[in-house]
Amino acid sequence: MAIESGGDPTSAPGLSTLGVHAGAEPGKPGDPVVPAIVQSATFFGGRRDDGLLYTRYGNNPLQLQVGRKVAALEGAEAAVVLGSGMGAIAATVLSLTEAGDHIVAARDLYGATRVLFEHELPRRGISTTFVDPEAPGAWRRALRKRTRMLYLEAPTNPTLRVPDPRTAAAAAQARGIPVVMDATFATPVNLRPLELGVDIVVHSATKYLGGHSDIIGGVVAGPASAIDAATEMMKLYGAAADPHMVWLLDRGLRTLDVRVRRHNANALAVARYLDGRREVRRVLYPGLQSHPDHARARELMPAGAGGMVSFVVRGGGGAADRFVDALRLVQVAPSLGGV
Ligand SMILES: Cc1ncc(COP(=O)(O)O)c(C=O)c1O
Repeated sequence: MAIESGGDPTSAPGLSTLGVHAGAEPGKPGDPVVPAIVQSATFFGGRRDDGLLYTRYGNNPLQLQVGRKVAALEGAEAAVVLGSGMGAIAATVLSLTEAGDHIVAARDLYGATRVLFEHELPRRGISTTFVDPEAPGAWRRALRKRTRMLYLEAPTNPTLRVPDPRTAAAAAQARGIPVVMDATFATPVNLRPLELGVDIVVHSATKYLGGHSDIIGGVVAGPASAIDAATEMMKLYGAAADPHMVWLLDRGLRTLDVRVRRHNANALAVARYLDGRREVRRVLYPGLQSHPDHARARELMPAGAGGMVSFVVRGGGGAADRFVDALRLVQVAPSLGGV
């Protein structure tokens, strides 16, 4: 169930409140209202009993504070901020697998994730079976003795399919293995993966969480033990977040709730408009009745179906290029989720 903003002021804080306040200690007179960027690679101390503070370790004070905020937004025990979304995905996968292990993943995935699973992990002795998550029993049938995790994404990039994480969770629970979900396109405003049986959520914070197209970042949220393990991989493979990026991410999170709700409304309006045009062959937006996962999106994403709209222009690639060239405001660039 998505947490609505604007409810009973005496009830637990909603996402808009958590986006502003979560993770921070209450301020004392003289403290800055905005957290300081702790732009330091290292910290005094580090003798035997001091505990080593070093920004690559993810224990820079602002990294920790924003990690707590992300955990609160996801309803997770813990979270860690990393240097990119792919860093977050890779650190999570590396923390859960070793040579000889096996992964079951939904077939529709962000391109680089697919390349990681299909081409890179096999070089490390880790294999993946890709399944159609809509095929009955697909997750369960693909499980092997050495399967260590199930992985899916929703809504998927770019066809905006919304696979049901509960089906994956049912298969995984029977075997005691975790479900990992990339919820970048959903954000915690639109989808609550941990309430649907997912164990670990990853995001490219480059997108909606940062929200201004000015950072590259990633987050992982889940049980503290899983976050510790992903953090260990982050340390060893060097995927740590820069303090200035973390500060910009914190700033983005303060407006996440309002931004995503506006994205939802704008995207639905654009999708409806395109759906009525004869130049458009097909609109792919889970908020439209014509989308194959419309009913599921309504159930799992009650706040809205997100800010991404995909559509197919009649006339093939040439017509699509002409359409894009004729746009006056919208310009072509990779990435999404920024204002
Ligand atoms: C769904 C999804 N996951 C992960 C990523 C990777 O994120 P990053 O570019 O921050 O590494 C992207 C990037 O487009 C994405 O769309």
